[in-house]
Amino acid sequence: MRYAIISDIHANLAALDAVLADIDRRGDVDVIYHAGDLVGYSAEPNEVVERLRERAIAGVAGNYDSTVATGYAHCGCRSESPRQEELAELSYRYTLDVTTAESKRYLGGLPFSLDLRPLGGHTHGPRLVIVHGTPTLNTVYWTEDRSDEFCLKMAKHVALEAGDAIAFGHTHKPWHRMVEGIHFVNTGSVGRPKDGHWAAGYALLDLGGTTSHVEHVRVPYDIERTVVSVRAAGLPEEFVEFLRTGGKQAVAAKS
Ligand SMILES: [Fe+2]
Repeated sequence: MRYAIISDIHANLAALDAVLADIDRRGDVDVIYHAGDLVGYSAEPNEVVERLRERAIAGVAGNYDSTVATGYAHCGCRSESPRQEELAELSYRYTLDVTTAESKRYLGGLPFSLDLRPLGGHTHGPRLVIVHGTPTLNTVYWTEDRSDEFCLKMAKHVALEAGDAIAFGHTHKPWHRMVEGIHFVNTGSVGRPKDGHWAAGYALLDLGGTTSHVEHVRVPYDIERTVVSVRAAGLPEEFVEFLRTGGKQAVAAKS
């Protein structure tokens, strides 16, 4: 089974459309799932929700999705300076204001995790689990420098075994490694990469065949379309700079 896993779209419709076109063009992807954070930071949360619903792309609740859906006090993003916190607050208020009640209902209905079996449930494994952050919370950052012990501890929460895989996002920085035969795959971000590359990112994962394989893909998109909509929405210019630089600007809020 060939999965495409997309995460952290963050209301960037142009980036999402480019990624979907790239997946469609391949012609060999069996199914697409998302790993959450559909909204926040850019200007088109409802349009992103609508596109995923149109395409019947299932997925899980990111911290941004669950906080917007429940009207929580904060987006669940971590800030490292007062300005970052100000920017996070501006984004969150905007998103709470413009996201429709219908979109919020959809976001609120997203499951915390998905448990998939490419060979079907009538056989044991392999399994693919999808979460946004970790199997314990969607706000925890599972960065590449986490230890093998941390990875295995997380795997244990969802009873993964050798040959299984877990895919997640939240850090907006793609990485992949195998520990004791389990694939740990951070898919990167479609709409707000933070690894210094502006192009939209997603992951392809082959599981259930004779070999398993993980590939990270980057897709250039019409960033000017997103810039126009971010500016028209009155969102801070720092968000434009963030998109253009792949998160390398001085004041970068985590999301
Ligand atoms: Fe995110």
